[in-house]
Amino acid sequence: MSTQSTLSKKSAVGDPAQVSESMPKRKKMTVPAFTARKGGDPLVCLTAYTAHVARIVDEQADMILVGDSLGMVIHGMPNTLGVTMEHMIMHGQAVMRGAEKALVVVDMPFGSFEESPEVAFRNAARIVKETGCTAVKLEGGMEMADTIRHLTARGIPVMAHVGLMPQQTNTAGGFKAVRDTDLFDAVIADAKAVEAAGAFSVVVEGVAVKLANKVTKAVDIPTIGIGASAECDGQILVFEDMIGLFPRVPTFVKRYGNMEDMMRDAVERYAGEVRRREFPNEKYTYKAKTDE
Ligand code: KIV
Repeated sequence: MSTQSTLSKKSAVGDPAQVSESMPKRKKMTVPAFTARKGGDPLVCLTAYTAHVARIVDEQADMILVGDSLGMVIHGMPNTLGVTMEHMIMHGQAVMRGAEKALVVVDMPFGSFEESPEVAFRNAARIVKETGCTAVKLEGGMEMADTIRHLTARGIPVMAHVGLMPQQTNTAGGFKAVRDTDLFDAVIADAKAVEAAGAFSVVVEGVAVKLANKVTKAVDIPTIGIGASAECDGQILVFEDMIGLFPRVPTFVKRYGNMEDMMRDAVERYAGEVRRREFPNEKYTYKAKTDE
């Protein structure tokens, strides 16, 4: 059992007497501790974009990603290309207010790192300074190796992202999973290149099970899968997809809740009670002091 996953913040805060010796205290996850989990207990990762969600996710997750999927699931964009540095920094700051133990990684948005290693460093340093996160994530394999080397050599840990890369949607013609065996070697080469450049972990998105297995065996850093099977060293999902708060979800997403229905039901009941003048009743109103 991992020391990172046994004690929820809620139980520790709510009832200190419950913190027995048999429940090891969770330590703050660091980059070296994360990398050391290669081949060990599966790494639990989720996205979060607000302080309150980060607080909830932090109770279980080894890593919280402030991903650029926030453009789609929070801001209603058709893809991630319109996401800006300002979006990432604002949501990164919110998440840092809620996260305590998990490693917080913030995505570099499209256009903020591709131009040169120097531009990437300037933007990555801004993200780290202004949010207080520990690491950044960027999409790309071999073509981003020099940039990853430049950032890691200068104190910015990098999580890489290979396989299906949502920021490449226009060149790929959509979000296309990598299933064609002719493409396997290129993805494996990408994973090896980002590892050699110093990435501490790599997200592997939308690849066939066989390829996920090969990539995981090919590198000594943890592979974090999304639509990439249990062959990876850890898993990540987008929080809104996982709780059922986003209507369009890929087939690999398992819904662990149906928040959209719960929210619709709450809004419907509220609207009905307001229209019938049932809410707010006496219980939810202030009385003047002289009435008491
Ligand atoms: O932005 C995001 O949510 C991501 C995950 C898909 C890994 O990059």
